[in-house]
Amino acid sequence: MRILVVGGGGREHALTWKLSQSPRVEALLAAPGSAAMEGLAECHPEVAAADLDSVVKLARESAVDLVVVGPEDPLAAGLADRLRAEGIATFGPSAAAARLEGSKAFAKAFMERHGIPTAKHRAFDDLQAALDYTRAEGGRCVVKADGLAAGKGVSMCESPAEAERALHEIMEDRRFGEAGSRVVVEDWLEGEEASYYAISDGERFVTLAAAQDHKRLLDGDRGENTGGMGAYSPAPVVDAAVEEKILERVVRPTIRGMAEDGHPFVGVLFVGLMVDAAGDPHVIEFNVRFGDPETQPLMMRMEADLAELLADAAGGRLDTDMAIGWGEAAVCVVLASGGYPRSYPTGCPIAGLTEAEAHADVVVFHAGTRRGASGGFETGGGRVLGVTARGETVEAARARAYAAAEAIEFEGAHKRTDIASRALGRD
Ligand code: AMP
Ligand code: GLY
Repeated sequence: MRILVVGGGGREHALTWKLSQSPRVEALLAAPGSAAMEGLAECHPEVAAADLDSVVKLARESAVDLVVVGPEDPLAAGLADRLRAEGIATFGPSAAAARLEGSKAFAKAFMERHGIPTAKHRAFDDLQAALDYTRAEGGRCVVKADGLAAGKGVSMCESPAEAERALHEIMEDRRFGEAGSRVVVEDWLEGEEASYYAISDGERFVTLAAAQDHKRLLDGDRGENTGGMGAYSPAPVVDAAVEEKILERVVRPTIRGMAEDGHPFVGVLFVGLMVDAAGDPHVIEFNVRFGDPETQPLMMRMEADLAELLADAAGGRLDTDMAIGWGEAAVCVVLASGGYPRSYPTGCPIAGLTEAEAHADVVVFHAGTRRGASGGFETGGGRVLGVTARGETVEAARARAYAAAEAIEFEGAHKRTDIASRALGRD
């Protein structure tokens, strides 16, 4: 099989690393890929993931058998539709199905129609109507920009006054641009978060595993929301009973509902959940692609042949009896540039990568690096590296990931010191 991976971040590095282990893979290409992925795939830095024409051209000219799309933006823009129209098997949903992530209002209406548990919500195009609603409801609420805002368009509001501020920022000041022409206001759910992954061919699905990420910048879940400062899998909050509820109440009706509504979901369904005190799952959001950095620990744990799994899903022939097989546990610790998620410098030389990777059961996935003039790696993004380790337990994996991360240095480097701590000492 010849496979093209679209994207060039930590998630795509992890997917490419895992795909490269498949005996069925004959060639791997990446668009744009990254300097760190060069040893695993033929990278095409001239082809941006968002440049649909160039991605389709590359896929056609390179005669690939499968395209695996990493990020959500090209999916929302219709990359999978374009590739399928050319007869190229694609792992990733159509633009219509990608609205599960791309439009919160669409996702909410879908869940309501199909009886999938989620927070009570209202969507508004009009600022005044939104303000009236939050005042009438009183108390805490969550205000979200409707469109894609790179995970940053969500405001947790403790009071109607805070909601008012958030609504003005989103709808009037357009802090998130056009994504803020419509807002969703919803109830604040209590509980513990987890994410759950399933792969679908449009009709059938196989489940992957649960993971948990850490969205806040600082220890103790303080500071600004980020793309994710670390992740671990499994997530102990998702025990067998909770998993069963997730399958029956969320995953199965979602895959069935999307097919019934005329836009079958092909790709990975990533469900962000709040599990309440009674162990009942409520959907916070759907994503239509692998999580970043959750994919890094998931790929380290997965025993199955990823290429076979993704090709079967893309080809509409998923074998629901396929045993995925999961190693015990994995943890990813993100090293970010000083200043992230706001502005940060780039071009800082990175030391200690070889030493970090010499640790047993550790892989350093690159999220935002590039080659410097001296040939070594330097920083090139906000999230720079995802130091990922496997272990018999989350605790062991975490200790390994931190020991390896200690070896890495660059100016201004920031990491959380409490990744996966919620998973420890529970059982
Ligand atoms: P989203 O982009 O919708 O996933 O929201 C980002 C983060 O905000 C989530 O991971 C949660 O931590 C939090 N969040 C969003 N919606 C809610 C809600 N209704 N109740 C509690 N927390 C929420
Ligand atoms: N880590 C969260 C995401 O990928 O959206």
